[in-house]
Parts: sequence; structure tokens; C-alpha cells
Amino acid sequence: MTTLVSTASDSIISSLGIGARYKPFEHHGMYEFFERARAAEPVFFCPEINYWVVTTREDVLLLLRDATSFSADIALAPVTPLAPEALAILKAGMGAEPTQVNCDPPKHDRIRRVAGRFLNARRFETLVPDIRRLAREAIGALEGRAEVDLVADLVYELPARVLFLLMGIPADDAPRIKRWAGYRILMTFGDLSPEEQRRGAEDMVAYWRYCVALVNDRLRRPESDYASFLIAHRGEVEPELSDNEIISLVFGLLLAGHESTTNLSANALLALLSHRPSWQAICSDTSLIPGAVEEVLRFSTSIVCWRRRTRAATVLQGVTIPANANVLLALGAANYDAKLFPEPERFDIKRPNASEHVSFGRGTHFCIGAPLARLQLMVLLEEIVRRYPTLALVEDQPIEYTRTIAFRGPKRLMARLGS
Ligand code: HEM
Repeated sequence: MTTLVSTASDSIISSLGIGARYKPFEHHGMYEFFERARAAEPVFFCPEINYWVVTTREDVLLLLRDATSFSADIALAPVTPLAPEALAILKAGMGAEPTQVNCDPPKHDRIRRVAGRFLNARRFETLVPDIRRLAREAIGALEGRAEVDLVADLVYELPARVLFLLMGIPADDAPRIKRWAGYRILMTFGDLSPEEQRRGAEDMVAYWRYCVALVNDRLRRPESDYASFLIAHRGEVEPELSDNEIISLVFGLLLAGHESTTNLSANALLALLSHRPSWQAICSDTSLIPGAVEEVLRFSTSIVCWRRRTRAATVLQGVTIPANANVLLALGAANYDAKLFPEPERFDIKRPNASEHVSFGRGTHFCIGAPLARLQLMVLLEEIVRRYPTLALVEDQPIEYTRTIAFRGPKRLMARLGS
């Protein structure tokens, strides 16, 4: 009986195409699924979220690079429609407007011109001594413990504390900002219940008010941080940056600047510690760390999918995607495209072209924080291999991921410190 039922549903599913089998919020098996999709149906429609999904590197790059034909305006739209109660809370309390990742040119380019003068590789380099100090403090706090959760105890707050150096935010605010950011991710990229959405909406409003207060404070008393820079340089573009645009930029960075780095750091520790020869190699030769960071970005990036909207009907791989359609760019799948990366499922810290991953996007919206994310992970790895070369994962632990279409990183990562 069971066989008959499952055979019938299997045939219905297969007539709907591979998209009916795609589980966009589920991370286990995601890479294997993308592999099969790229071979069988490289562009498919997923009815569960009403998105077309693009899995080849070539197509992902095409969409990322063409900001005229493909709008980024849906990048932060809730993928699960919000319940009326949550919407009402957000409508009453939130004032964020598109400024960067979900904003199209020309407004995007005008804003990025000012933001990019503050957020750039030169400034990030000056942070290295502080990044090292913060990494050492976090590693030092593990001292004396036999077993630790590398997520909660090491990489959860660390990237936020680094970002706070740029934003002039006290370290003590990390717990609430991390909580707000976690909810914001789930509201935007997850599948929360209406009740969870209501709580999430309240958190988002609190998060927004925090940014309003921060910018208002810098309008009265400028310091040397991001908001103060934007205020001081607002007149360098036409029209000048408004107060609301500045608050929206601060609100945007206070998420973009740490959540994905937390996840990437956890992914890096998971990949390196579960491929012991790679871990041992970076322990004995730290000059291998920059290559290892690129391979982690390729092999297990922390943002597996990103989004665009078609402005006109578009043909990809012989499939017509209609105008005004939602498109999910499977960055993780593109990073496993065997056309460029031979044996993509092999973790190889010496892979010569690993840095050709698309984990930071490409083109107009290319991640402004990419150099900082790389620096942070390099410093963290240098410090941890120096202090705990014997670090080892607790065997056979289940790895769980939060249910989102985009952000990917283990919730917990139990490890023994060794000597
Ligand atoms: C591992 C860490 C990170 C990953 C994987 C990541 C990934 C991304 C991706 C995929 C995009 C969108 C690209 C597109 O739409 O074409 C993006 C944009 C952005 N990222 Fe990151 N990011 C990371 C860290 C950071 C950090 C540390 C910062 C800030 C200090 C940052 C700030 C931004 C901003 C502001 C944008 C919007 C840029 C624009 O639209 O002009 N990101 N990032």
C-alpha cells in the first residue's frame, strides 16, 4: 500500500519537474540536490517559494553582472509572506528604505560612492591589530575547558565585535544585536510561523530604533565611526544623503557586517577540522591559510543563495523565465560547477582557482565587506592553530542548520580543545 502511494506521488512530483523536490529551507543534502539539478534541469521552478532557481556558474554570473536586466530590489523581501499582524507592526515602526543590497542603480551607485569611501580594504587593514586582539581574547576565554561549542563560545559574537569598531558601538551591545540580527534573517529568509513573525517584527522595530538613536546621536556629537563619516560626507553626492538613507545604511550594515562572517567562521572550522590533513597543514604552515580561506568560501560559503527579479522575459539554458519573476541564484551550486572546479566536492586548500567562487557576488553589488571577512577569518585561523593545534571535533555529532534559503552555518560545533 505504502509503495503504491509513494509511487503515485513520485510520478506526480517527477511530472512537476525537479523543482517540486527542492527543499529551499533545508541545508542537509542541498549540495547533492544542486548537483543533480545542474545535470538534469539547471534552471527550474520551485513552487514552494515561487522562485526560479539558477544553478550553473555561467548563469549565476550573468544575472549578477547585469544590473539593468535583473533588479536586486527583492534581495531582502520576506521569502515567506508575512502575516497581517507582523506586517502591521513593521508598518507602524520601521522606516528602512533600500540603500544598498536591495537598491538598483542609479540610487545604489550614488550611495555606494559615499559608503565605499569608508568601507574599503585600506581601512579594514588598519583594524588588523584590533581583530587579532579580539580573536586572542575570545580564544583565551576558552582556556581551561575540555569541551566547547565553537559557535556559541567563539565565533558567535566575534565578528560583531569587530564590526562595532567601525560603527562606534560598545561591545556590551553584542548580545542584543546578535539576537535582533538572528530574527531579521529568519523574517527575511526563513519560514517562521505567524506567531514567530510577530515576535520577529517587534525585534526588527527595536533594531531599527537602535539605529535611529545611534544616527541621531552622531548628528549631535560626531565621532570617527561609519555613521559620522556618512553624515560628514553626505553632501558629496547629488542629491545629498538624507537622514533616513544614513539610518538605513547603518541598519543594513549592522546585519550584513557580521552574520555571514559568524557562519563562515563556523563553516571554516567544520571543514578544516573534518578534513584533518588540511587542518594539520595550516598548523604547520600558516602561509596556507589565505588559500584555505578561499577554498572554504568556495566549498561551504555562508550565503548559499541570493536573489534577483527579471525585468523582461529571459531565456536561460533553453528555459524561459517570464518578466517580473523571482530568481534564486544558487551561489553554492555555482561554486561546485565542475566546468571550472574539477572534483568540486573535494575540499582542497591548495585548489589553484578557489578564489573564483561567487560567494561575495559580482558586479554592482559585489560585497563591500569581502576584504574584512577574509581578514577576520585569516586572523582567527592563525590565532587558533597557534594556540590549539590539537583542536578536534567531537565525533559523530549531528550538524544542524537554521532553516533559511540563504544563510548557512552550523548552529553548534562541539570540539575538544586538547592540550
Ligand atoms: C563571509 C562573509 C560575507 C559573505 C559571504 C557576504 C556575501 C555577500 C553577498 C552575496 C552580497 C550580495 C552581492 C550581490 O547582490 O551581488 C553582499 C553584499 C554586501 N555585503 Fe557582504 N558578505 C560577507 C561579509 C560582509 C561584511 C563583513 C560586510 C561589511 C563590513 C558586508 C557588507 C556588505 C554590503 C554593504 C553589501 C551590499 C553591497 C552593495 O549592494 O553595494 N558583507 N555580501
